[in-house]
Amino acid sequence: MEIVAKTMAGLEETLADELRNIGAREIEIMHRAVKYEGDERLIYRSNLELRTALRILIPITRFKAQNEHELYNGVKKLYWHKYISKGNTIAVNSSVSSDHFNHSHYVALKTKDAIVDQLRDKWGVRPDVDVDEADIRINTHIHREKVTISLDSSGNSLHKRGYRISSVEAPINEVLAAGLLLLSDWDKKTDLFDPMCGSGSFVCEAAKMAMNQPPHSYEKKFCFMNWKNFDETIWNSVVENCKANEKKLEIKIKGFDMDAEAIRASRHNIAEAGLDGLVEVEEKDFFENHEIKPGSFVIINPPYDIRLKEDNIIEFFKKIGDHMKKNMPGTTVWIISSNIQALKLLGLRPSKKFSLFNGPNPAKFHKFELYEGSRK
Ligand SMILES: C[S@@+](CC[C@H](N)C(=O)[O-])C[C@H]1O[C@@H](n2cnc3c(N)ncnc32)[C@H](O)[C@@H]1O
Repeated sequence: MEIVAKTMAGLEETLADELRNIGAREIEIMHRAVKYEGDERLIYRSNLELRTALRILIPITRFKAQNEHELYNGVKKLYWHKYISKGNTIAVNSSVSSDHFNHSHYVALKTKDAIVDQLRDKWGVRPDVDVDEADIRINTHIHREKVTISLDSSGNSLHKRGYRISSVEAPINEVLAAGLLLLSDWDKKTDLFDPMCGSGSFVCEAAKMAMNQPPHSYEKKFCFMNWKNFDETIWNSVVENCKANEKKLEIKIKGFDMDAEAIRASRHNIAEAGLDGLVEVEEKDFFENHEIKPGSFVIINPPYDIRLKEDNIIEFFKKIGDHMKKNMPGTTVWIISSNIQALKLLGLRPSKKFSLFNGPNPAKFHKFELYEGSRK
C-alpha cells in the first residue's frame, strides 16, 4: 500500500534514509514528504521508529475538484463506515496549495461535513468531532485541483515525543533536533555536548539514538490503534523487536545552559524521557565552560533572537567563535542558526553546510572542525 511520511523542508533525504533502514520500498522524495510502499507493520514501525517524520498518512482516494461542491461530492463517494466505527470521534486537517481553494480550514470543514452527512444518513447519528484527541483523523491535501484524502495513522504530530513537559523560550522542534543529529553524521559513539541546551531536545534525542531506542515511548497511543484493521499481534512484535535492539548508553551526553530555568526544564524532560542518570545537565556559562574535551562532538542552537540588539549579536557570535578557537581544540562543532550573518561572525570556516528551516525561519546548519592549534 502507498504510505506518505510528512517531514520538514530540508529533512526529506534524511527521512528517506531512515525509511530505507526500516525496509520501505519504492521510496520517492517529495517536497516536505516521502512516499513509499509498505504494509501494516511498516505503518506501525514508521510511527514508532522514524525520528524525522511528522505524520504518517495513508492515501485512500484521489480526485479532482475545483470548488467546494466537487470536494464535498468526492469525499462523500467513499464508504466511510469502512474506516470509522459508530462511537468514534473524528477530526479533519488539511493542507492546500490551489487557486481554487483559499482557506485550508474551510477545506477541512467541507471534508468533515461530507463524512458526517454520509454517516448520519447511514446510522441516524453523526460522529462527534474532537479536534485534540480524535479516534480517527483524516487529512485532505489539495494541490491545484488534485485532491488526496488520507487516513492519518499518527494522531498528534510526531514531533510531540511526550517527554517535553517543561519548555524554554525557543525550544527546537524535536523532529528538527533529531534530523540535525542525523544530518551531522554523529557516529553515536563519540561523547556529545550541547553547551546551550535549553529544554534538552538535542541531549534527549541523541541519547535515544545512541541507545537504539525509538523516539516515542512504547506506551504511546497512535491513531492507527483505533482503526478497524488494527493488528495487535503485529504491533506487539514491532515493540518486542525494538526492545530487543536497545543497547546501553556507553558515552557521555551532557547539556549545559547558563539559565537555571532552562536547566530545571531540561531535568524534567530528561526524567520524563526515562533518561535520568544517563544524560547530565549543568548550569554553566558557555564562555566559562572548559569541560568539552578534544575528540568531543558538540551541537549548538544559540539564541539568535531578533530582539537582541545588533551590537549584542555581533559581540555574542564573535565571542562564541573566539571561545571555540581558544578552548575547544580537537572538537567537531555543529551550529544551527537562523541568523545567517551572525554565523559569519564566528570567524571560522565551515567544512560542511546545510540549509533548512527552523519553524518558519530559514536556517543554516554549519560544521566546524577545530584542529589543535586552530586554523582559520
Ligand atoms: C535557542 S535556545 C536553545 C533551545 C534548545 N535547543 C531547546 O531545544 O530547548 C538558546 C539557549 O542558549 C542559552 N544561552 C544563551 N547564552 C548562553 C551562554 N553564554 N552560555 C550558556 N547558555 C546560553 C539560553 O539560556 C537558551 O536556553
